[in-house]
Order: sequence, then C-alpha cells, then structure tokens
Amino acid sequence: MSEQKKGREITISVLKFNPQSKISKPHYVDYKLEETPGMTLFIALTKIREEYDPDLSFDFVCRAGICGSCGMVVNGKPALACRTLIANYPEGKLTLLPMPAFELIKDLSINTGKWMDSMSKRVESWIVDNSEKEVDISKLEERVDPDIADQTFELDRCIECGICVASCGTMLMRPNFVGPVGMNRVARFEVDPHDKRPKHLPLQNKIAYLRRKLVALR
Ligand code: FES
Repeated sequence: MSEQKKGREITISVLKFNPQSKISKPHYVDYKLEETPGMTLFIALTKIREEYDPDLSFDFVCRAGICGSCGMVVNGKPALACRTLIANYPEGKLTLLPMPAFELIKDLSINTGKWMDSMSKRVESWIVDNSEKEVDISKLEERVDPDIADQTFELDRCIECGICVASCGTMLMRPNFVGPVGMNRVARFEVDPHDKRPKHLPLQNKIAYLRRKLVALR
C-alpha cells in the first residue's frame, strides 16, 4: 500500500489578548501544523485548540457560512474562517486578528451581537404602521405579491457577520455608522408593503431621507 502523502507545513500566527485579565498583553503566537486536503481556517483553528492551545478563543456555530459568527481578519482582510480555504494561501502563512470595530471578548472572539442590536434600534428595524388598525392574529397573514416577497427574502439573507463594518474605516471614526448591514436593513423594510414609512420616492430623495434619518440619530 502506498504511503499517504504528507501535507505541507503551514504557520498560523494569532494575536492573543484577554481584555478581562489585568496581566494579559496583546502578543502573537505562532502555531505550525500540517495542512490536510480541503482544510478550512475553521478546521485549522479547531485542530490548534484541540492539540496545541485549549486556551485559544474564536467563535463559530454553523461551520457553513450561515450564522456569521466566525469573522476575523485574515492577512489583513476580514473573512469568514469557515469559508476560508488554506489552499488559497500558497505561501502557507496566515496572520489572524480579531475584527476591529466590535467589542473584543478574547483573542479572535468578538461581540458582534451588541453592535447589531444597537444598529437595529438606530435604523428602527421593525415594521412601522401608524394606521392603528387592529391586528387580528386569528386571521391568515396578509398576502404579498411573490415578486415583493422574493425581494424581501433576498434582503433578509444577510448573515450579519459584521465583515462589511470591519472592512470600512468609517466605523472607527464615526461610532454611529450603520454600515452596509444597516443600509440593507433599511432596504428590507423599504420593500416590505407592511411597513408604512415614506416610500416610492425617487432614488435621490430616498438617499436624502435616509441621511436625514441617520443624522437625527446622532
Ligand atoms: Fe457560521 Fe462561519 S461558523 S458563518
């Protein structure tokens, strides 16, 4: 039987820091491991945690690019660890940092939920209907044109990983920045016929409306 070919050696360098600890200081730790076929960064980090460093913190839930938990900065660019193939880094060296703009929990683990919650409140991410019409929950939901339902569904597909916010320097200068994820939320309610906020304006007016709304949130 032929011997299984060894994978190349890769180096993963992680910025480790625990802001809860008085003695912790930000420092890089290098981990060397063997690449396996189809290895993603998530798999590599799990291997590191299981075999070399049980103290390494990073987030994940779905491992399939759906939950948006595993965002981190990979060689200077924010990316999802579970969708990042090690094979796409021919030099075999990856440097990982936690995504900026969010509260750091530890190492690569950040609190995107807190920021998303505050953004949701700022853009009023809920159906607004001031008609004071009584809602009868015993009745079937109102019908929606399938094309409109498709548009709403498309805008609801954002996984809110925070990569768009972390990729943009604006967030670091303006804490009230809602980012593309916030704009996406606004667009989602803009197309929803249940929401009665001003609509059907020419694009220029929509942008002006949105700007005024965001300025008022300061
Ligand atoms: Fe869910 Fe990566 S673990 S998106």
